Amino acid sequence: MHEIPLLGSKIFAGRGLIDAAGALVKELAPRASRAFVLTDRACRRYAKRVSSVLEAAGRPTSTTVLPPGESQKKLATAARLYDALAKSGADRRTPLVAVGGGVITDLGGFVAATFMRGIPAFLVPTTLLGQVDAAIGGKTGVNLPQGKNLVGTFTQPKAVFLDPEALSTLPARDYTSGLGEVVKYGMIRDAGFFERLGRDHEALRRREPAVLEDVVRRCAEIKAEVVSADEREGGLRAILNYGHTIGHALEAAGGYRALQHGEAVAVGMEAEAFIALELGMIDVAVLAAQNRLLKALDLPTRIRKLPRPRILSALKLDKKSEGGRPRFVLPEAVGRVKHGVEVPAELVHAALRTVTL
Ligand SMILES: NC(=O)c1ccc[n+]([C@@H]2O[C@H](COP(=O)([O-])OP(=O)(O)OC[C@H]3O[C@@H](n4cnc5c(N)ncnc54)[C@H](O)[C@@H]3O)[C@@H](O)[C@H]2O)c1
Ligand SMILES: [Zn+2]
Repeated sequence: MHEIPLLGSKIFAGRGLIDAAGALVKELAPRASRAFVLTDRACRRYAKRVSSVLEAAGRPTSTTVLPPGESQKKLATAARLYDALAKSGADRRTPLVAVGGGVITDLGGFVAATFMRGIPAFLVPTTLLGQVDAAIGGKTGVNLPQGKNLVGTFTQPKAVFLDPEALSTLPARDYTSGLGEVVKYGMIRDAGFFERLGRDHEALRRREPAVLEDVVRRCAEIKAEVVSADEREGGLRAILNYGHTIGHALEAAGGYRALQHGEAVAVGMEAEAFIALELGMIDVAVLAAQNRLLKALDLPTRIRKLPRPRILSALKLDKKSEGGRPRFVLPEAVGRVKHGVEVPAELVHAALRTVTL
């Protein structure tokens, strides 16, 4: 088992952590008299394994099981959870353990950050996106009808448990989509890791636990490193948005249905590497290496049937833009990116032409 520190919180990575989580929660919240578990129907089996250890350790545990899906990430559900916490007799020491994908860890993290001005949160992410991204870094939140993640906090959980076993039951498309973020970490920060992904692409596609354990750990380390240097996104944290300026616009243009997040990031990285090539920041070998790895992992690099005008208007609305103009994170090499780059509109158009069919 590996332990990665992040601004006072601990990230544990390794096999067996689902069964070890209950005991670690007890150790890290020693004065709690009870516990509260949040999960969704698809992850209930993992949540049960955590709560049974907590119960056996003398922590009576209340569990709330939500229906799966992004639509639960809202204030009304948070209100239901405050109610359930209060009724269960929770106090400020009661740990909230969120077992599930990014929806559950974002929502659980938000409720824990705000209930009684903050109770300890423990996250057991069960999706690849959750393990390498959503559960790491302390962003919590819910959506409003006006947009995603419009209400939230920066609050580090007490601990995060990354167990590759949880990924064995993940639907194929969710798993592959998560690999888009994995490739991103290689591109922004670690050329050796990027090469390793290429060598191990078959094992990764098969979800071999030993490979997955290492890969997830390395991604979590990279994110922890970046977030430790810039918790509130004033500078370096922006590099995590490689592939996301165009990726978010593709997601929005598809009404959040056509593409999964990691798929949009994959196509976004292809487009943004094209922009870097045209700006003379990289040579074509970098674009080709990224393209090869994305394909080897079954990720898309082109997208059909998305009207370009819709993508362009979504781009202007990108929340990372300054003064209405999007800023880009662009590669300078495999393993190194530059953030805050302004790109001429014609070049963005050209990049979109290369990735849309
Ligand atoms: N806080 C952050 O920094 C951050 C970063 C990235 C994404 N996010 C958020 O994460 C959310 C997306 O996360 P996600 O992709 O994990 O979505 P999700 O939580 O909706 O999970 C995807 C689907 O997989 C199911 N599932 C989860 N684990 C499973 C398992 N082990 N076996 C079988 N089924 C399983 C879920 O029930 C759901 O239907 C979005 O709301 C996004 O805003 C947050
Ligand atoms: Zn992302």
